[in-house]
Amino acid sequence: MRLVLLGPPGAGKGTQAALMCRRLRLLHISTGDMLRQELQAETELGLKAHAYIEKGELVPDNIILDMVRAKLKEPECENGYILDGFPRTLVQADALAQFVELDAVIYLEVPFEIIIKRLSGRRRCPKCGVIYHTSHYEKSTCSCGGVLYQREDDKLETVKNRLAVYEAETRPLIAYYSQKGLLRTVDGEGTPEDVDARIAALLEP
Ligand code: AP5
Ligand code: MG
Repeated sequence: MRLVLLGPPGAGKGTQAALMCRRLRLLHISTGDMLRQELQAETELGLKAHAYIEKGELVPDNIILDMVRAKLKEPECENGYILDGFPRTLVQADALAQFVELDAVIYLEVPFEIIIKRLSGRRRCPKCGVIYHTSHYEKSTCSCGGVLYQREDDKLETVKNRLAVYEAETRPLIAYYSQKGLLRTVDGEGTPEDVDARIAALLEP
């Protein structure tokens, strides 16, 4: 199965992708995580991307498309995957359609006030990438031993810009995938397990 998780920053794409991958045995491909890994390794790509990420801007389409095309050629992608955070522009969506036939695009719908709360309390493990929230997890270390940190783009000012960029660049994908008959809208409120159950029901044959 080849799926896309679509939704605003903080909608729970990474959280749901982790649950879905376990359940459906799919590979989780997050362009945001890939860029953060490149940055951590201080590669040329990572350093170039950093200038955009820290401001909450989108990394240019050509950089993202090269990275995703290379990833999808890897043998581990043959058994299906969930794309999280990609595509994010109409140019990326058109390019993806040239080389991949998608099964569904799951759009996580979450109100603005909830997004702000979710992002302000998010913590991430730099070692294994697991996502936590301070309201559910009070420790400062991950179960793998990594020291949790707050993403630099989760500062309120940057979050506001990310949401504005989402509205301008990514929201048009809802109509785009709806016209193609691929869009499945899911209520993203409730616990992660509630949302996962809704997605599971929606994907049932
Ligand atoms: P990226 O990493 O993709 O960030 P994003 O889209 O802004 O989304 P987030 O990761 O912030 O949110 P999420 O929906 O994954 O929510 P999460 O599950 O963590 O991209 C970062 C940057 O990279 C971009 O700004 C851009 O610069 C660049 N980039 C990446 N892809 C690109 C592309 N294709 N093109 C161009 N540039 C690109 O959840 C958030 C919090 O809420 C967590 O604390 C979690 O524990 C909590 N939570 C989740 N679900 C629930 C729930 N149901 N109930 C309660 N709490 C919940
Ligand atoms: Mg994410």
